[in-house]
Amino acid sequence: MSVISDLETRDLIQLAAETRLKAYAPYSKYLVGAALRTRSGRIFTGVNIESAAYPTTICAERVAIFKAVSEGEREFEALAVVTSNGGFPCGGCRQVMAEFGLEMIVLVADANGRLVERSTVRDLLPGAFTPEHLQP
Ligand code: THU
Repeated sequence: MSVISDLETRDLIQLAAETRLKAYAPYSKYLVGAALRTRSGRIFTGVNIESAAYPTTICAERVAIFKAVSEGEREFEALAVVTSNGGFPCGGCRQVMAEFGLEMIVLVADANGRLVERSTVRDLLPGAFTPEHLQP
């Protein structure tokens, strides 16, 4: 049995879809919304926030994770990502996800809330470099 129910899955995707509309993406016009559920049951949302200095843009997934970590959370159950066309998390975001555990469920959905992929960080980032690699 999954740690996250079908209802929780639907709710997380729905929240990411609503949050997506708050994205600040005047350059790419590619709106991304994320919703992160912690093991303690708290939810943190994120959107992509672009910058006129393009490389300083930050992805929705990272905003959600950084908000959660800055509020004291480090254990995550699931992350929903919603885009217009069901795009997958970028490599940089996969690496940040891996920092906090490979078992987190990643739900990829489109703007209609259709689930495109249900995966884990482990499967999205094979051979991940993790904090354990820095242990002496
Ligand atoms: N973007 C995300 O927010 N998450 C991803 O995983 C992929 C890309 C954003 C960054 C940028 O604002 C826009 O999508 C186009 O790359």
